[in-house]
Amino acid sequence: MANYFDQLASQWDEDPGKLERARITAEQMLALRPAPGGRLLEFGCGTGLLGLILADHFEAVLLVDASAAMLAQARQKLERLALPHVQTCQSDGLADLPGGQDALVSLMVLHHVADLAGFFAQAHALLAPGGQLLVADLYPEDGSFHQHHNDFDGHHGLDPVELTQLAQAAGFANVSHAPYFTIEKTQAGTPRRYPLFLLMAQKMADANYLTEQ
Ligand SMILES: C[S@@+](CC[C@H](N)C(=O)[O-])C[C@H]1O[C@@H](n2cnc3c(N)ncnc32)[C@H](O)[C@@H]1O
Repeated sequence: MANYFDQLASQWDEDPGKLERARITAEQMLALRPAPGGRLLEFGCGTGLLGLILADHFEAVLLVDASAAMLAQARQKLERLALPHVQTCQSDGLADLPGGQDALVSLMVLHHVADLAGFFAQAHALLAPGGQLLVADLYPEDGSFHQHHNDFDGHHGLDPVELTQLAQAAGFANVSHAPYFTIEKTQAGTPRRYPLFLLMAQKMADANYLTEQ
């Protein structure tokens, strides 16, 4: 998986569609944030397109990706932009990442993750009470989206209703989802449309905290 994205990293930002997708995703995510500030973790940050737009709205940002080449692109931008509150970390999962996060976001990553229940459980563990999980991804598709990716072994899109159940089973509350963007690309000469959803889930403040107020 990382090898596949390693090969794409140097040209990733040359696609205006990916820049537009990140810009609109950031707008939508910020509209769901209760207030600026706090700690942000982006899982599967790629070259940092989304996380670097969101960075101004958080006190500390951790950009995480499995691909060393993607992270190298993100680090080059960080050097140019001089953003000392933004760090990077190479990891192929959420285990062992720092907890106490106020927001955990991902864009077009979850369909690459085999163990979805494990993802939600680990995301819940990493968030601070009141923290938000914001996941943007493909609705179920016919498999054509990754037809150029020979060893693709992920999901052909994801059903946000099923993800809602997994999120709730992991302890999240206030789960909601809505369509917000459509990727348009030509596959084998045919124009195709792939809608994306944005799912939001919240880790509740724990029962002890609520009863002490
Ligand atoms: C489709 S790209 C999206 C990149 C970025 N979010 C964007 O929208 O431009 C998927 C990214 O997720 C990363 N990725 C996939 N599976 C991962 C995993 N298990 N752990 C960490 N990163 C992963 C890939 O390396 C790649 O950078």
